[in-house]
Amino acid sequence: MHDVIDIAVAPLSSACGAEIKGVDLTKELSEPTVRAIKQAWGKHLVLVFRGQSITQDQQLRFASYFGDLGNRRKAPEQLRSRAEGIRQDNEKVLLVSNIKVDGQPIGAFGEGEFWFHIDSGYTPRPYKYTFLYALELPSSGGNTMFSNMYMAYDAVPPSLKEKLKGKKALHIHEYKRAEKADVSGDISHIPHHYHPVFITHPDTGRKTLFVDRLMTSRIEGVDARESDAILEQLYAIGERREFIYEHVWQLGDFLMWDNRCTIHARTDFPKEEPRLLRRCTVEGEPLHE
Ligand code: SIN
Repeated sequence: MHDVIDIAVAPLSSACGAEIKGVDLTKELSEPTVRAIKQAWGKHLVLVFRGQSITQDQQLRFASYFGDLGNRRKAPEQLRSRAEGIRQDNEKVLLVSNIKVDGQPIGAFGEGEFWFHIDSGYTPRPYKYTFLYALELPSSGGNTMFSNMYMAYDAVPPSLKEKLKGKKALHIHEYKRAEKADVSGDISHIPHHYHPVFITHPDTGRKTLFVDRLMTSRIEGVDARESDAILEQLYAIGERREFIYEHVWQLGDFLMWDNRCTIHARTDFPKEEPRLLRRCTVEGEPLHE
């Protein structure tokens, strides 16, 4: 073990996010270091390591300190062209990129803005954690914003909390990035799942708001118009500026976040400029109120 146990944690905003200094992710980490990182993660929800130079294997090794690595979710055949890239050859790795080779995307999530979402929130076991490493960046934009959903839960008015007690919401994904899925017709071919509107974080026991603008489409058992109005109110709470940390990427940045208590979004960026980040995840578990 060659890592430095004496890590420093520097908060990045009053909402969430902290920079971890003193850790070299190319090295195997000792148990006390991993424990210290976990402790900081539980408190700050999003961690940033700057100036890293890591291989894919080193990234996967680091992520595996926190649980079983997640498999890349495969889109159904009809939606695959929106989701799959030609350079994604490891089932644990997804390339977040707008780069094309011979007209074909090398990765996923292409260009432009990406609305607030939870990674794989449309599945029965949304990823616990996501790890993202910056390899190529545009000259401006493409920032990733994170919102603290513990704070959002606390800000939901008590009467609305009471009304939504025990209610689930539909999470559905058509692999669009800034447009809601159409849930008016047959959705059987589109990946979807119902999760409680409020979940109890399995590790901290704290309640969080578990909805997002991109993928949460309908509250079960509530009339469609009322459901739309309530969801709009919940999205607005989750996207309040004071709950958000906005990360301006630098090459070599490595970020990790907890999908059970944060949502994230991407700002627009010049589409002709290459952006490439390498993503891996840790598998999740069913979520309960
Ligand atoms: C993601 O949602 O996993 C990617 C976010 C980004 O491109 O900044």
